[in-house]
Parts: sequence; structure tokens; C-alpha cells
Amino acid sequence: MSERILVTSALPYANGPLHLGHLAGAYLPADLYTRFQRLKGKDIIHICGSDEHGVPITIAAEKEGITPQEVVDKYHAKFKETFEQIGIDFDYYGRTSSPVHKKTSQEFFKNLHDQGVFNKKMEEQLYDEDADMFLPDRYVKGTCPECGYGEAYGDQCEQCGSSLSPTELIDPISSITGNKPILKKTEHWYLPLGDFQQRLEEWIDSRKNWKPNVSGQCKSWLDSGLSDRAVTRDLTWGVPVPLPDAEGKVLYVWFDAPIGYISATKEWAEEKGDPELWKTYWQDEDTSLVHFIGKDNIVFHCIMFPAMLMQHGDYVLPENVPANEFLNLEGKKLSTSKGWAVWLEEYIEDFEPDLLRYVLGTTLPETKDSDFSWKDFQARINGELADILGNFIFRTTSFTQRFFDGKVPALENPTEKDLTALKAIEEQKEKINEAYTGYKFREAIAETMNLARIGNRYFTETEPWKSRKENPQACANTLYVCTQICGALSLLFQPVMPQKMHSLREQLGIPHNTTWEHINDHLVPADHLVADHEILFKKIEDDMVDREINKLEEKAKAAAPAADKFPPLKDVAEFDDFMALDLRAGKILAAEKVKKSNKLIQITVDLGFEKRTILSGIADFFKPDEIIGKSVSVVANLAPKKMMGIESNGMILMGEDSNGKLHFVTTDAEPGSPIT
Ligand code: MF3
Ligand code: ZN
Repeated sequence: MSERILVTSALPYANGPLHLGHLAGAYLPADLYTRFQRLKGKDIIHICGSDEHGVPITIAAEKEGITPQEVVDKYHAKFKETFEQIGIDFDYYGRTSSPVHKKTSQEFFKNLHDQGVFNKKMEEQLYDEDADMFLPDRYVKGTCPECGYGEAYGDQCEQCGSSLSPTELIDPISSITGNKPILKKTEHWYLPLGDFQQRLEEWIDSRKNWKPNVSGQCKSWLDSGLSDRAVTRDLTWGVPVPLPDAEGKVLYVWFDAPIGYISATKEWAEEKGDPELWKTYWQDEDTSLVHFIGKDNIVFHCIMFPAMLMQHGDYVLPENVPANEFLNLEGKKLSTSKGWAVWLEEYIEDFEPDLLRYVLGTTLPETKDSDFSWKDFQARINGELADILGNFIFRTTSFTQRFFDGKVPALENPTEKDLTALKAIEEQKEKINEAYTGYKFREAIAETMNLARIGNRYFTETEPWKSRKENPQACANTLYVCTQICGALSLLFQPVMPQKMHSLREQLGIPHNTTWEHINDHLVPADHLVADHEILFKKIEDDMVDREINKLEEKAKAAAPAADKFPPLKDVAEFDDFMALDLRAGKILAAEKVKKSNKLIQITVDLGFEKRTILSGIADFFKPDEIIGKSVSVVANLAPKKMMGIESNGMILMGEDSNGKLHFVTTDAEPGSPIT
């Protein structure tokens, strides 16, 4: 790892608020890493911004009834604020609707185009005649050819994760009008990824220390062979294709968005008053580029964007792409459309950011999907932050205040035990260093907490409340050592809980610019006056998390679309099929329970021109007596069916509500009237 590091985290689509999944996937790990490397004195910048193009934006605009520009303005502003509140500290947070980005991505496209890399091809694509537009990506839904999931998008199946193209969908439907699209010819520019196959393979093979889930996904892409990828779209929202024969075409969002990392770095350099500085981070071989993303973005960051960078020729390629798996919520898949998410802007109203950073940090989906639950949130805060870390800091500082007038006592003639405890700082620091460097943030955080555990154990074992009277120097030594451990923790926990550790350093009088190499330098000198202590971590009461769980369930209920309350629609019926049914108005003349059957009622229905015997499975809901005289709708030409030895000639229509209760479909028409 070089001295200069460029960290990027996936540009979030500016089409809806941020939730825990976003944070756990990319932003928290990127922020932990950046803060850690900065503590180590590395020249590191963290670049991000809003992804403001593509179909996800225009679909959100249609849903919210506002323009795409209004959508991105709204969420871009929110994102900036939310990230700041959670303590995600970007050096620059840009946006892809910026003029610098337009210029940068157009130049990038033009560069590759002028090198003759793209294949220009005329192909048939799905087209919605009523909406008068092509239907790229998420504008079509249909059945996934891989797994049969009925709600797959034109670019991806969220069920099985396959990446798709719209024409591969079975029974595609326009998500704008619900129409069945037609095929229409259109011309586009394709990046022939196959031509990069060998270079990509060699490059990925040469990468060291990639996470197995990432290199595994890359291998499987490479093994199945890379094909041409369209890098343009027929859309009005996006960066216009900078060619004369490209009217009405924009760059594919996955072409322009990663270039957004570059444009944002340019804007950062400009803001710093050193416009060329971006080049050091993107074009100097001594820079390590690290992309933090979620697993659904792997192919774009490990195959497509590197191919683009290779072709451009003068850019560094990512050193690592430590992609995370997904975070589940309370044991269920996170889903914004189903309202199953914890929104960060809501979280921040109820709790402090550092608590979430800690808990999520210990549960990051680093190697496999992981789960966030409010009970676990409470358990970790109470059991770890309050009972271990908070307790250690509190007993150390309050003991110093009570028995040493707040002054850190000096260390004299330390015992083996004292020295071992001091040495633990160094040892833990090394473990933590290795874990962070290897992108194992859960481990880094666990080892940091272990130092607090060691401190607690040492405090308990040396029994300063006893030695205070029996051996005052031993007591002083305990407090000295514990204070140094507290000091080390205030820096070792800095990447995870920047605000809390800031106040801890204030209390201990440790300069905020102290760096990694000084962590085991006995940061709090003897005689230093420990400031008044505050409780760093308060316990979370049951009712506080119960409220959150209820909130979550309420939101899920409110978001549940009618489609979830009722069975899904059956396949389309042709008009003629419907007309083949003969529905008639009828009146119930008599009803009695069928013996030996729990469900069936035998009903005599007046159809005007004849009387019928019909068996109906409604005994759970109605007593025979109460239905006599009802006007009902009858399927009158249904083939006869024998049940419990009785022949039923027709069917009485019932509505079944979402609680499973049955209701008659009544009509005022006289018995015998056709229902059409
Ligand atoms: N907007 C994409 C998503 O949310 C991520 C874009 S990452 C970038 O999945 F590389 F394209 F910027
Ligand atoms: Zn699928």
C-alpha cells in the first residue's frame, strides 16, 4: 500500500433516502478505512457524490410527480446532510449533474470513441408505442429467464442477482404504461468487453488480498466470457452522447457514474486551489485506488470501469475493491419499496451517530450477508459500549478524581502485571492495524474493544480500592496504567466513534492531532488533571428499541401494496374465454348444511327459468337460515360436479376479503338475468 490513497465509495442514486444498508455496504467501511489511514498519517482522500442519472432517477421522478432535476436536487441536499450527521467525512461530495462531470464524462467517451474502441451496432430493443419511447433497464419488468422470478427488471433480477438485458425477459411489460412492448431498431455504441478479457484476467490475477467474494464474482464473470456492453441509451435524462449522429442519446448511467469519481476529484482539487492535483490521485502510479461498494456493483468496478480506465491508458487501476455483501434487517431482506428499512435521517432523530457506527461496524456484511436488529443494537450498546468501554473509562476517571484529586498519579516501580497491561496497548494496536489494513473492520473493532476488556480485567485484578490503603503506589500505578489505556482507546476507537472519542480526548487532555505512532507513548502524563467526567455511553432502555421495532412494522404495513394483501393477478384471459362463462342473477330459495361436511351448504337457487342445486363451501361464514332470500350471482353453465354424493350445478360468486372473510356478490337484477 502506497503512501497516497484515493478512496471512493459508490455514488448513491439520488432517488430516495439513505438507509442502514447503504451505510453498511459502502460508506461506513470507507469512512473507517479513511479515518484509520489518516490517523496513520497517510495522504488519503475520500471521494463520493450523488449518482443523478439513469432510469432509477426518472422512474422516481414519475412516481413523485416532479422533474428528474427536482428529484436529484432534493436527495442530493439530503444526502449531504445525512452523511455529515452520521459522521461520514468525505473530502469531497460531488454530483453527476455538475458541469465538470458532463465535460469529464463526455471527454472520456470521446477519447475511447476516437481510439475506435466502440462497436456501433443497430439492434432491436423494446419500445413502448404509447409512451413513444425505448424501454432500457428498469423501464421494463418481466420474468427472469434464469430463476423465473416474475418481477425482474430489464437490467437485473433482484431475486437471483443475474444481470440481464431487457430483451432477455420473458413476457416483458413496460413499467410506464403496463403495455407489452414491441421491438424496434435503434443504434448504439458498445464497449467490446471481450477484447479486454485477457488483460482483465491478468490484472485481476495480479491483485493481492482481494476478498474471496469479490475475486470469486470476477472469476465467474470472466469464466462465462465477456460480451459487448452498450454504453449509450435512448433517453432524455443523462449526459448527451458527444457525437453529431447521436441525437436523443445519452451515456449509459454505468458509463458516466464511475467517471463521477474523477470529476468529483477534479472539483475537489479546484476547490483546494490546485486544479491539477486530481491527477496525482488518478494518474500517478504511487497512488492506491480503493473502491468501497456493495456486492451488486462488483461487475462495474472490477470489469467495466477498469476496462474503460485501461483503454484510456493514463489512469491507475483499483488496488482493491473490498465489496460488502448485503445487510438484512430483523432477519428479513431490506426493501425500500416494502418499507422494510431504517432510514438514516430518522435514526439520527432518536440516537447518536456513534452508537450506530459502532453497532453496524461490528455487524458489517464483510464476508456474508449479516443482520441488523434493534435488540442486538441495544444489547451491544448496553453490554459492550456501556458495560465494558464506558465502565472502564468511568471507573478509571472517577477513581482518579475521588482519590487523586483528579490528577493522574505517576508510575513508579511497576510490577510485571502493570507492564503487561501497558504492553497490551502495543499488542492490540498491532492487531488492529493488521485488521484495518486487511479491510477486516469487524475484527479491528472487536480487537479495539478487547483492549477495554483487558483494561477492565487489570483494574479488577489489581484491586485499587484495596491497594489504596495497603499499598498506595500500587494503587497509583493501576490508575496510571488504566489512564494510558483510556488514552490509547481514545485514538484506537477514533475511526469508529469520532465524536465520542473526541470528548474522551478532551477529558484526558490528549491533542486531537495525535497520530497512530504515538498511541503507545503514554498519552496522559502524570499530574495531568482529568476533567470532569460525563457518562460517555448511556444504556438504551427497552421501550426505546420497542418503539423502533413498532415504527418499522408500522411502516412496512403502510407500504404493503394491495398486491401483498391480495393474491397476485392471474394470467391474462382472452375476451372469448370470459364470454364463454354464463353468469346469471339468482335468488336463494332454500339452504341446509350438508351432513358430514364442515364446509358445504346445499343451496337451492331460483334462476328464473329453473331451480338449481348448488353446493357452496361457505358454512364457516354463514348459517343456512341467514342466506335464504339473498340475491346472488351464479356461474350458470359450469360443468356439474359431485361432492359428498350430491351433484352441484353451478357456482355462487363470493368475494374474499383480505381477512379471508366471504361476501356475496349480490345483484338487483331479477333471477335469470344474464350478468355481462
Ligand atoms: N448508483 C449506483 C448504485 O447505487 C452506484 C454507482 S457507483 C459508481 O448502485 F461507480 F457508478 F459511481
Ligand atoms: Zn432471477
